[in-house]
Amino acid sequence: MTSHRPALVLALLLVTAGCVAPAPDHVDEPDATGEEIYQARCAACHGPEGRGDGPLAQRLDRRPADLTRLPGGADFPRAHVMGYVDGYFRDDAGEVMPQFGPEMAEGQLVPYDIGDGVMTPTPAALIRVADYVESLQAK
Ligand code: HEC
Repeated sequence: MTSHRPALVLALLLVTAGCVAPAPDHVDEPDATGEEIYQARCAACHGPEGRGDGPLAQRLDRRPADLTRLPGGADFPRAHVMGYVDGYFRDDAGEVMPQFGPEMAEGQLVPYDIGDGVMTPTPAALIRVADYVESLQAK
């Protein structure tokens, strides 16, 4: 592993080659739904239905998580999902998945209680994509 984020380089190459739809400039287009954000930013690795089988999955050092198999209902690990996507609780070293926090934070922020009883300014795009991941869980 180099420090060069090979997965991101590969994603860019595939986009250039026309294999993967280019992502919009910002994931936080004010009217982008969680599903649109997911399909633009997550599906290349996690698959169009979240099963961890996107076109990039075979080429990554680590298999993308199957996002349909997280605990559902009241047990949905919302703080874990949001923190993982944002990247704030991950150690960058050796991680395959990019951190979306800095980019999402450029968009609309809304007060949000992630479960600790404290209202924290949170990117709306992060909340929407977490809602979408929750909707992928088997009922
Ligand atoms: C470049 C490929 C890639 C992209 C793009 C990507 N992921 Fe991931 N994701 C991974 C990989 C690989 C893992 C497995 C752990 C790791 O290496 O970080 C993972 C892990 C996760 C996890 C942790 C699951 C668990 O069981 O703990 C969540 C949640 C997640 N991704 C959601 C997303 C969402 C939502 C997006 C889009 C905003 C996204 N990912 C974009 C590759 C990717």
